[in-house]
Amino acid sequence: MAAVVVYRGTILHTKSFDEFESFEQGFVAVQDGKIIGVGNDYDNWLSANKSVDPKTVKQVQLSEFQFLCPGFCDGHIHAPQYAQIGLGMSVPLLDWLNTYTFPTEAKYVDQKFALQIYKSVVEATLRCGTTLASYFATNDLASTLILAREAVRQGQRALIGKVCSNCNSPDFYVETTEQSVEGTKNFIAELRKLNSPLVLPTITPRFALSCSKELLSKLGDIAKEHDLHIQSHISENLDEIKFVKEIFSTSYAGAYDEAGLLTKKTVMAHGVHLEDDEIALLRERGTSIIHCPASNTNLNSGLCDVQRLIKAGVTVGLGTDVSGGNSVSILHALSRALDVSKHIDVFNSQDIRGSGAAKNPQKNYKQLSYKQAFYLATLGGAKALTLDHITGNFAVGKDFDALVVDVSILEKPHRSLTVDELLEKFIYTGDDRNITSVFVAGRKVKGQICYPE
Ligand code: GUN
Ligand code: FE
Repeated sequence: MAAVVVYRGTILHTKSFDEFESFEQGFVAVQDGKIIGVGNDYDNWLSANKSVDPKTVKQVQLSEFQFLCPGFCDGHIHAPQYAQIGLGMSVPLLDWLNTYTFPTEAKYVDQKFALQIYKSVVEATLRCGTTLASYFATNDLASTLILAREAVRQGQRALIGKVCSNCNSPDFYVETTEQSVEGTKNFIAELRKLNSPLVLPTITPRFALSCSKELLSKLGDIAKEHDLHIQSHISENLDEIKFVKEIFSTSYAGAYDEAGLLTKKTVMAHGVHLEDDEIALLRERGTSIIHCPASNTNLNSGLCDVQRLIKAGVTVGLGTDVSGGNSVSILHALSRALDVSKHIDVFNSQDIRGSGAAKNPQKNYKQLSYKQAFYLATLGGAKALTLDHITGNFAVGKDFDALVVDVSILEKPHRSLTVDELLEKFIYTGDDRNITSVFVAGRKVKGQICYPE
C-alpha cells in the first residue's frame, strides 16, 4: 500500500451550484492518487480508519493564508490558438476566423512548430491550475497526436479533439468528408494506443457552419459507436447563427440534434443567443454549455446569461476559449464571468433596450456569486464533461486533482482572513503565482510541496 498523505488546513470545494463547503481546520487524505478522507476532524477519521497506520502518514500543514481547493476545469480551449493569444481582438467572429485563426491553425502541419506550441500551452494551463482541459486541436491528425502526447507526458487530464471542417472554410484549411471521418477514426485508434487513463478522444466538429449535414451525421455515428465525448460551438455570434439557420433550415441546436450530436457527453461552447426552445432541447438531451466570457466580450459576441441556462436545468462549465479568450487562466475566466453577470444585472435594472444585452432578460435577475462562479470553474466543468465521478471536488473516492493556493505569495494580507475571504481575495486579485502546487490524480505537476511523489 502506498503511503497516505494528509493535507491539513483550510480546505474548500463545492457540492453543487449553490452548495459551497469549507473546513477551516480540515483535512484531505490521499492514497494512490485518490481521496480517502475529507472533513473537519482528522483525529476522529484516523481512529476510525484502522487500515491507516498513523506512523506511515505524511502530513502537509498549510499555512494561515493558504488553502487547498479542487483543480480548475477548462471546458473549452483551442490549443493551437495559443500561438496567437492576445492578437486580433478587434474583429467579430467570422472575420477573426478568416483573418487570424484559420491561417494560424493551418501551420500545424509543421510538427516542429506544433510541438513547440503544444508543449507551451499544456505547461501554461497547468501553471494556471487547469487540471482538466477540453482541447480543440486542428484538422491535422499528426499534430493533434502531438498535443495528446504532451498532455500525457505533463500529466494533465484532457479531452482532445481532431477538428473537423469540410465546407465554408478557406482552400488552405479544409478537408473532404472522407478525410474528416477517416482522420477522426484514426485519431481515436491512435489515442487508444497511448493507453492513458487521463487523456481521451473527443469528437470535434468545428461548428455547424463548417461541416456539411453528411459530415455532422457521420461524426454523430462515430460518437455513438464508441460512446465518445463531443464538443463544438453553438449560438455564439448573430451573423453565424443567421448562416446556420439558412443552411440547415432549422435552429442551431436543431442542426446538431438532427445529426445525433446532442448527447449527455456533449459540451457546446458559448450559447450566447440560444432561444428558449433550444435551451429546452439541450436540457432534454443532457447537453452542457461552456460559458466563455472573455471570448464573448473580445469578439463582441454578446452577454451570455448563465443564470438563465442554470435555471432551465442546463449544466454549465467555464472555458477560456483561447484565443478568442485572451488568457489561458480559468481564474481569469471566472472573474470575467462575474463581470458579465454584473453587466447583465445593470442592463436589466436600468432597462436598457436594444443594447445587445442579455437575451430575454429576467425580471428578478440574481448576480452570480463568487462561490457559484467557483463551482462553474471546478465541479460545473467536471459535470459538463461527465467526469464528475472522477474529479471536480473532494468527494471520497475521486482522484486528487487539487491546487494549493497562497494568497500571501506577493504581499501578506494586512489582516487575518476568513475562509470565504481567502477565496474571494484569490478570485479578485490572484493569478498563477498564487497557485503554488498543482496535482492531477495525486501526481504533482507544479510546485514545491513534494507529497505525493
Ligand atoms: N467558432 C468556430 N470556430 C471557432 C473558434 O476557433 N473560436 C471561437 N470562439 N468560435 C469558433
Ligand atoms: Fe472556441
